[in-house]
Order: sequence, then C-alpha cells, then structure tokens
Amino acid sequence: MGDPQWYDLFHRRGTRRDFLRVGGAAAGLLALASVPGCRADARLRSIGSYPFKLGVASGDPEPELIALWTRLDPEALETVGVHEKPVAINYELARDNNFKQIVRTGSAIASPEFGHSISIEVGGLHPGHEYFYRMIVGGEVSPVGRTKTAPAPENTPDRIRFAFASCQDYEDGYFTALQYLAQEDLDFIIHLGDYIYEYAEHDRDTVRHHTGPEIQTLQEYRNRHTQYRSDLNLQAAHAATSWIVTLDDHEVDNNWADESPEDDQSPEQFLLRRTAAFQAYFEFMPLRQASMPSGPNIQLHRRLRFGNLMEMSILDTRQYRSSQPCLGGISPSCATHISPDQSILGRSQREWLFRGLTRSEARWNVLAQQVMVARLRGSDAEGQETWSMDKWDGYPLERSALINRMADAETPNPVVLTGDIHSNWVTDLKRDFDDPSSETVATEFVCTSLSSDGDGQDMTAGGERLLRSNPHLKFYNGQRGYVTASVTPDLWTSEFKVVPVVTEIGGSLEARAKFVIEDGHPGAERA
Ligand SMILES: [Fe+2]
Repeated sequence: MGDPQWYDLFHRRGTRRDFLRVGGAAAGLLALASVPGCRADARLRSIGSYPFKLGVASGDPEPELIALWTRLDPEALETVGVHEKPVAINYELARDNNFKQIVRTGSAIASPEFGHSISIEVGGLHPGHEYFYRMIVGGEVSPVGRTKTAPAPENTPDRIRFAFASCQDYEDGYFTALQYLAQEDLDFIIHLGDYIYEYAEHDRDTVRHHTGPEIQTLQEYRNRHTQYRSDLNLQAAHAATSWIVTLDDHEVDNNWADESPEDDQSPEQFLLRRTAAFQAYFEFMPLRQASMPSGPNIQLHRRLRFGNLMEMSILDTRQYRSSQPCLGGISPSCATHISPDQSILGRSQREWLFRGLTRSEARWNVLAQQVMVARLRGSDAEGQETWSMDKWDGYPLERSALINRMADAETPNPVVLTGDIHSNWVTDLKRDFDDPSSETVATEFVCTSLSSDGDGQDMTAGGERLLRSNPHLKFYNGQRGYVTASVTPDLWTSEFKVVPVVTEIGGSLEARAKFVIEDGHPGAERA
C-alpha cells in the first residue's frame, strides 16, 4: 500500500459540532485520545456476552472511501456496566478474508446517545478493490464483512454488477430473497426503502410477528430495527457487499409526506416522531456522516459515481413532498393534482437533481428512488380515470419536468430504479404518455418486495388491467424477489429473480425475466 493518505471519522458522537474530519496526505491515524470530549474510558478488555449480534455492514462506496458499520448489543455492555458510557471499537480492514494482509486498523467511539452504533468512514483506499473488515470489542471479534470501493473517477470499468431491492415486511415472509442476494457476486446492493414496517403486530395469520403497538418513540424504532436486523439472512446480505440505502414511508409512517402523517397526529407530534424514526434509521444504516440527522431532518439525497461508466442520484421523495393530492390513495384527478405547486422532490432537491442530469457525462445515469415514475392509468367502478396519488402519478407536472429535462439535456442513458409497490415492472418513460409514438426518454425498472405481501403470483388481474391500459408497460410480475443489474459501456442487463414461496423457510430462487438496454437506445427490450 502507498502512503497513508487517509482519514478516519469517529461517528455517532451526539452533535454535528463534535464531528471531526482529518484529510489529505499529512493525516495519520486519528488517535482517540486526541479527540476533544471523547472519553476513551471504555476500552474493554473483556465483555460478558457476544456484542456483535446484529452483524456488520458497509455503505456508500467511493473510489477511496467506504463507511463501515456495527452496533453493540446493549445487554453485552450492561454485563460489564458500560451501557451508559462511550465504548471504543477497534476495526481491521484487509485485502484478504483471513486478515493476513491488513491495510488499515483504527478505533472509533460508539456512544450511548446513538445506541452504541458506529459508522466509520475509512479513506485512502484503492479504487475498485475488494476489502474485508471486522470489528473487535472486549476480545470479541465480529463477523467478517466484504466490501468494495468504487472505480477511479477517470476509469471506465468493464462492468459493474449490483442489485436493487425494497420492502421487507418481517411479518409477511421470511427473508429468503436476502439469503440469495447475499450469495450473488455484487459490487453493491441498493435498498430503495421500507427497510422496516412501523405497524403494530397484526391479528391476521403471519409467519412472524412484530411486537407491541405501532411504533412512535426512539426506543420503539430502535427495537423494531433490532428485530429486523436480528434476521441472519439480512445480516448476511449486509456482510456480503456494501449497501446504498434510502428510505421510503414505512421507516416512519405509512404514506407520510413532509410534515403530514397518515395517523391522527399534529404536525408537531409528527415531527417528533420523524426525529425518532430518522435517528434510528441513521443508527442502523451504513450511512456517511453527511447523512446524520439534525432534529427532524435527514440528508439522504446524494450522488455516487462509478468511474465514468455510471452516475447515481439517490433520491428522497418523502421528506420534501407536497401532500398527496385530491383524496390521496387511488382517486380521480382534482385541481390540486395538476397545480404547478405540487412537488414530490421539493425545490432544492429538484434543482440539485436537474443540475446533475444536465451536466453528467457518465455513460449511464441512474435515479435510485422510491415510487413509480411511469404513468399508471387506472379506472374506478364508474369507469372514471384514477391515479395512485402517492406515486409520481400524484405529481404529473413535476414528472413531465423531469422527463423533459432528461430529454432536453440529452442526459446519457437515463435509468430509473424504483421500489414501493411490491411488484416487478419494466416501463418506458415517455415524453408524452398519452401518445405511444412519442419519444422514449428513459427506462424504469421497478423491483418487487423482498417479503412484503407474502407469496405473490406471477400475474394478477390488476397487473393485466394496467398492462392493457398503459402501452408503455413492458413487463409485470407479482412475486417476491430482487433485480440484478449488469452494466457495461455498451449494454445494461436487468434480471428479475423471484422467490415464489416466502411464507415457508427454504423457498427456491427462479430467474423470471431478463431485459437489456443498448447504449444510446432508451427503452428496454426482452432478452
Ligand atoms: Fe412496501
């Protein structure tokens, strides 16, 4: 390895003011003792029980930097009386999974204010390299995680291979799809939201159970994340490669929008709830410091680059959106629906996104986001046109602005990745959805849920109806699973992989469909 051009960031330390960054060639190991206000008094020589019950994770790969995550088990800390103290965690990063070639070691402080979770930014790494990491506390060693840095900015990698997935309701099904996802050879995994569900335990027959009422407080959100993260298939998928995450509604509350909850709560009550939900989300995800919440706000829209092959804008279509128009849900249009004030992105995120789409020179330009962009025209019992107001269909003018921007700026090969609706779709994004002969500007791949809604069906009556009334739709499937993407300079390949049975342990994985996009030819074709 070359000179130690790297920096460490000590994470989860309460306030932005405490945040330290040491960068540049001169930066060496940032010793704990040198961190102001950092009481390294809990360097444990031993610990009462295994502290890494929730595993390890890594996230947001950059060419020279990766975020490494873990969270210590509160009971393990309590047995040695340090559950209310900051605790030092050592980490090791190596080129091999036997840790014979260790290239980085360091320490980070896990503080009780953040539930003894850490996300350490380790920099100065080599672009496009595979690494292995582990954490050590009180003589106990964590499971080993594998991760990979992004390619160098000026390089065109031969291929990037990743997967995208969403929606893992713990009650509805086993995380078998995540077990298979962990066995794929991937550069990274994108999780598009509904990582947890906020619901109370359901009365209906479910394969597993939430505990308690609908979650509201920080402790309740932490407990729910802990329950989900205790699943070994989810842990395996995190350990297998780095994750790029964004949240959707159920990390907070069903169909929330900005300050508006689904439930009977005032905006003030809901903002307190949002604060709790965002903090828990940040504590459990391998996010960068830049995403640390400040009160009821979290910064999740961000951009990652993979050489000059791919640029990815990760969006947040919940936190800044106008409330769902008209009657919400699936309803006919009304005046608010077509008001220019309706926004799903909010002004600042929209300007940031449009600037990125205008100037990008990457071969493929990805939007990783939550709800379906393509138009899905439905009809009610009286035959009146209806729209799903929680999706981009509730914000049609902003959708047109987005698609027009990509077309007018000639953004190279735009591809939208979407979750949310628990079904697989491939669609063209048209300049004018009313005119099937109008220009296809981009392609949208919608991934199904990992477990939400339990065992599905390949085709449903609703799927058939929507395919009939929306000619830009090219594929539908209503089973559980995930989508892999293999991206080369000439070709994008999306493969839909399904797990037909998730309500029993041990369901099989099936390759359901494959679609390709050729460079310079928007619109996916069946392969
Ligand atoms: Fe969902």
